[in-house]
Amino acid sequence: MDVGLDTLWRPVVSTRLKIAPSLLAADFADLRSEIRKVEAGGCEMLHLDVMDGHFVPNITIGPFIVEAIRKVTKLFLDAHLMIEQPERYVANFVKAGADGVTVHAEACGDRLSEVLASIRSAGARTGVSLKPATPLEPILPYLERIDMVLLMTVNPGFGGQAFMPEVLDKVRRLRTVYPGDIQVDGGINKTTGRQAVEAGANVLVAGTAIFGKTDVKQAIEELRCQK
Ligand code: DX5
Ligand code: ZN
Repeated sequence: MDVGLDTLWRPVVSTRLKIAPSLLAADFADLRSEIRKVEAGGCEMLHLDVMDGHFVPNITIGPFIVEAIRKVTKLFLDAHLMIEQPERYVANFVKAGADGVTVHAEACGDRLSEVLASIRSAGARTGVSLKPATPLEPILPYLERIDMVLLMTVNPGFGGQAFMPEVLDKVRRLRTVYPGDIQVDGGINKTTGRQAVEAGANVLVAGTAIFGKTDVKQAIEELRCQK
């Protein structure tokens, strides 16, 4: 029996709905209490937006902040790396406490296979993200080695942008061939979240729709309630 790489690469499959608040919209001067609020609201994971000023025209946080966040929460931390040459930093983010590392297929090019291997060998869950205009094809050969696919529903770089409904077709198509976590990120609120879930997504990343509200717990419950 072959118990080689194929078995090891099998994605962790659970398509239960999960809410992943994006800290980008939180108050960075008071991160600890912002994290306490979303924990109390019952979210399943935290989404950490890492931007380098090259892959996207904005700069945010690095491993140092991830390490500080790791010290105050047990939530699953997903580092969404919107950076060039992500392989240079995968180990740093895992060492800092990231449980999952999501890289952009556009930033990996033909090195995607090696980058996925480096995430796995660092001990984290593998994630790959696609910009709205990027087709599914570059990731299709690797789906067995990807725990989470993050489909961007805005062009990455900034919070607070409008959801792009044209990405829903990509969500639908991916769900027919992929049993793992499908995350959507950008412009997710109660309405667009429902559309994404109907299309097959099971992880809703939301910044503004959570941290932009006074009642964060209620905001999370609204996202979760798909009626
Ligand atoms: C955008 C980031 C998103 C962003 C989502 O580049 O990847 O995670 O913070 O923010 P909202 O929910 O405000 O669109
Ligand atoms: Zn993100």
